[in-house]
Amino acid sequence: MPTTVYYGTLVHSISLKEMEIISSGVLIVNEEGAIVQIEKDIKDLESFLATSGHKDSKIHILGAEQFLVPGFVDTHAHAPQYMFAGSGMDLQLLEWLDTHVFPCESAFKSVEHAGKAYTKVIERFLLNGTTTCSWFATIHLGGCKKLVDIIQDLGQRAYVGKVNMDQNAPDYYIEDTESSLNDTRTFIEYVQEKKSNLITPVVTPRFAITCSTPLMNGLSQLANEYNVPIQTHLCENHDEIDFTCSLFKDSKDYTSVYDDHHLLNERSYMAHCVHMTDAEIDMLAERKTGIAHCANSNFSLHSGVCDVRRFLEKGVKVGLGTDVAGGFSPSMLDAVRSTFFASKTVKILHRDGPLKDKDYAPLTPSELLYLATLGGAQVLGLQGQIGNFEKNKAFDALWVDLEHGSIDLMGGETMHQKIEKFLFNGSDQNLKHVYVQGRRVAGKSTQ
Ligand code: GUN
Ligand code: FE
Repeated sequence: MPTTVYYGTLVHSISLKEMEIISSGVLIVNEEGAIVQIEKDIKDLESFLATSGHKDSKIHILGAEQFLVPGFVDTHAHAPQYMFAGSGMDLQLLEWLDTHVFPCESAFKSVEHAGKAYTKVIERFLLNGTTTCSWFATIHLGGCKKLVDIIQDLGQRAYVGKVNMDQNAPDYYIEDTESSLNDTRTFIEYVQEKKSNLITPVVTPRFAITCSTPLMNGLSQLANEYNVPIQTHLCENHDEIDFTCSLFKDSKDYTSVYDDHHLLNERSYMAHCVHMTDAEIDMLAERKTGIAHCANSNFSLHSGVCDVRRFLEKGVKVGLGTDVAGGFSPSMLDAVRSTFFASKTVKILHRDGPLKDKDYAPLTPSELLYLATLGGAQVLGLQGQIGNFEKNKAFDALWVDLEHGSIDLMGGETMHQKIEKFLFNGSDQNLKHVYVQGRRVAGKSTQ
């Protein structure tokens, strides 16, 4: 069976603490897009290929200033909101939902409108190297199906959720409980019947404010029945938390609202989690529920600064989310940078402000790479399939070219410095090829 061989430098995360740089690496991908072999320090490629039975493979040799890195995993983004990404950044969450989000999303009732917008957003995310994304769509079944069809055509790996909201939403953008549950069931079946190994349906109550108790209970039952993950928003902003607690007075706190409706489990993940008590973080750890850290959005909607280190230390899975369009950028490299700034802000609060841990360690570049790749894979339960380069995992990868794009190499940089330059100064211009499951789905190069 013909295989594809990649030869050059490979960079990936082994764990939060450990980044591996493989030089003169050989990575072999089979026809199904799975990694079947990885070798290190192969000085003579010709003789390796002759002796290992890969002489007839398609060979890709990376240049000296190029490397392969795992594709980015965006654990939280709103596909319809890409319509207004980069605008409307002056408000806080609840006002912004009313003035920007709900009017924008309601237009996705039109499948034609949805088709045009969703094509643009998926193309843009792939160009930015987001090989896996967890999407919120809208409440509309037709538009949600369209999003899935487009993702399938364009080749992204994705979790896709039909949004649910049956209360505290405007008349023009709300569903009744029964049709919300029925449409969710139909949507899950539509995706599962495709038998795609790339696309997974995800149960998506918008947040507790817009979901009644019967709706949340019904959704947790559907997630169980079809064995699908659950995504929602949690503890993003003080007004949101106060409103939620006023609506669900029988629950101890916001996190317990979801727990009391059986929405927290190993396959659930919560966006934001900015303002959480220790007891709430402990509850996520106990339920093995992950978080999507959306630093750009947390700054842009001035929701707050999430201390990701607190979650990592308690053993909670953490990935990064662009949260387009609460976050203005579709780029996971920007998510990395916002995460870096959030972490530095917490450090400053420890050093000069109200927090007092002098030894507080901000996130390192290698931890940032982990969160953007393997960490996100773990949040989505995909750590056995993607996130780093391991035998039997899918080849979801970025072919990074440091010489052609938005980076200047000045000479003498170590490999670690080159990786840092990519994380901090790189852009889509440095992505020569983007692969999902072995298939080239985007990239700057025309070949
Ligand atoms: N909470 C409920 N809906 C949303 C949304 O669309 N974006 C963000 N950032 N938070 C939310
Ligand atoms: Fe969001």
